[in-house]
Amino acid sequence: MDVNLLAVNEKEKNLSYTLQSWVTECKPFAKDGRCATYIPALMDSNPFDLGVCLLDSTGIKLTAGEWEKYFTIQSISKVINFILVCSHLGISTVLDRVDVEPTGDAFNSIIHLELHKPKKPFNPMINPGAITVSSMIPGNSSSEKLELLIQFVEKLIGKRPTINQEVFESEWETAYRNRALAYYLKEIGYLYSDVEIALEVYLKQCAIEMNTVDLALIGLILSLDGFNPITQKQIFDKKIARVTKALMLTCGMYNGSGKFAAFIGMPAKSGVSGGIMATVPPKSLMSKTPLNQGCGIGIYGPAIDDIGNSLAGVMLLKKISQEWELSIF
Ligand code: DON
Repeated sequence: MDVNLLAVNEKEKNLSYTLQSWVTECKPFAKDGRCATYIPALMDSNPFDLGVCLLDSTGIKLTAGEWEKYFTIQSISKVINFILVCSHLGISTVLDRVDVEPTGDAFNSIIHLELHKPKKPFNPMINPGAITVSSMIPGNSSSEKLELLIQFVEKLIGKRPTINQEVFESEWETAYRNRALAYYLKEIGYLYSDVEIALEVYLKQCAIEMNTVDLALIGLILSLDGFNPITQKQIFDKKIARVTKALMLTCGMYNGSGKFAAFIGMPAKSGVSGGIMATVPPKSLMSKTPLNQGCGIGIYGPAIDDIGNSLAGVMLLKKISQEWELSIF
């Protein structure tokens, strides 16, 4: 075996070992959180699961804990939805219809939607903005819109994802607040399809299943400004990657985004099922990080805090960021 490859394998082994020890250290933080209850089918998750995958652009793959488990990506889909619609309609058309400003409110908050002038939704990383963006996906029916989204996901993760029908149906039947948001958006002229079509597309994209490897790969593609290192193809435009990462940094962890930026410092997006997708840009060679070529990180830890972010997952990302110097600041 060549000497360089041996060194890479040795580095990967050491980093993996360290990562495993941090997973063990962070798991107990889950006791202060709980699995989301407002989507009935999510209540059955094991709150003490904690998994992570980190992929870097040199081919390093680090995994630990329940990294292989599949879960519904929930709000992480908002990132994919936004990139897809920007790719089809252009950034400026999308931003005419949804803003890029953080709210400081909960992800499903209604209160500021009516006060904002102009009334367009604040940003695509929270429910109203994501419902607006879902309504803009090209297609005449929910299945045509979804098919476009699924095909886009396939280009990112290299396989056709499944939609968890049980999770979708359980949310569809109890989506009173999201339905209210969608009707309100329709009334103010910020919904570009029928209410029920936008809602079905939005809730089905939330029910797409992935594991931490899939999330890490999307994070890595964002780190490489839209380039997929596996297929060697540019999947989306660099300008879209830039706006998306700015949105993730300022709005991706909801009203916890400020603290997350200050103490962890990487663009990231969470979902109420306990997933987090983070992206780290390449660093200068002067940096002390062992991972200076850019990486993507996928996390799964279903016990969430009051804001909706994975408790143990955020602790683990903090550890990773601080110990391996991955903050962008
Ligand atoms: O629309 C909802 O409420 C869920 N399907 C997704 C919300 C979500 O993941 C927000 N997360 N922190």
